[in-house]
Amino acid sequence: MRRGKKVRLVCSDIDGTVLGAPEAVTEFRRIWDGMSGDRPLLIYSTGRLLEDAKRVIREGGLPMPEYFIGGVGTMVEEVKDGKVLKEYSHVLDQNWDRRKVDELVRGIEGIEAQADEQQHEWKSSWFWHDAAEEDLDRLRSTLKEAGLEAQVIYSSARDLDVLPVTANKGNALRWICQRLGISLDEAVVCGDTGNDASMFLVPGVRGIAVGNAEPELLEAVRGTDAHLAKGKCAAGVIEGLKAFGVIEDTNISNS
Ligand code: GLC
Repeated sequence: MRRGKKVRLVCSDIDGTVLGAPEAVTEFRRIWDGMSGDRPLLIYSTGRLLEDAKRVIREGGLPMPEYFIGGVGTMVEEVKDGKVLKEYSHVLDQNWDRRKVDELVRGIEGIEAQADEQQHEWKSSWFWHDAAEEDLDRLRSTLKEAGLEAQVIYSSARDLDVLPVTANKGNALRWICQRLGISLDEAVVCGDTGNDASMFLVPGVRGIAVGNAEPELLEAVRGTDAHLAKGKCAAGVIEGLKAFGVIEDTNISNS
């Protein structure tokens, strides 16, 4: 575990990471809201699309972030003016053909499309229960052989996202850091499933895998110095943020 440089940005997944243990959410919000003006920027990075993400944040009682990364790193919104950043979306267009991707994936046995609300131009999402690593590799080869540049991300032994190669949570985070002039070793990321792995693998970032993290994330971060929290969901996030010096004891006793 590295305490490292002062943390200027915290980028967290929502479901199963900051959300999922109501008491810990209340505690997280109390600590976050009580931190002074120079607290790190907060970003939520989720598989949900933006409107859906905002709804769960409101309903779950989480603090509002400065940025949202939605659709597994396929959309970025700056909360201040509520606009999806088109400059980011343009990066995703290169060599992406959603119609062809769908045609190929649809043919796989046992696969089922997620609801329309989960789909968008740069996110083709499916349910595929208990797919093995070989199944995923086979899909990767099929896409490649068809001349498609696409990225296969599998989470929770169920959710399959096929995205442009340039889109994932890690790349979206890098893009925001570059835009804001924040270096990657000033960022902390938090997550629990496979679609979070790309954030943990961004060079220099410090990671917090919450206590309820799925084996697929633990496997992906093996060999990194991510903080493997004991606490579940937001309790694990709080634990990790303490370990990285973002939350000091004064933030807690001041309540
Ligand atoms: C969220 C999204 C879903 C996606 C999953 C994994 O649950 O709603 O579409 O497949 O995250 O990224």
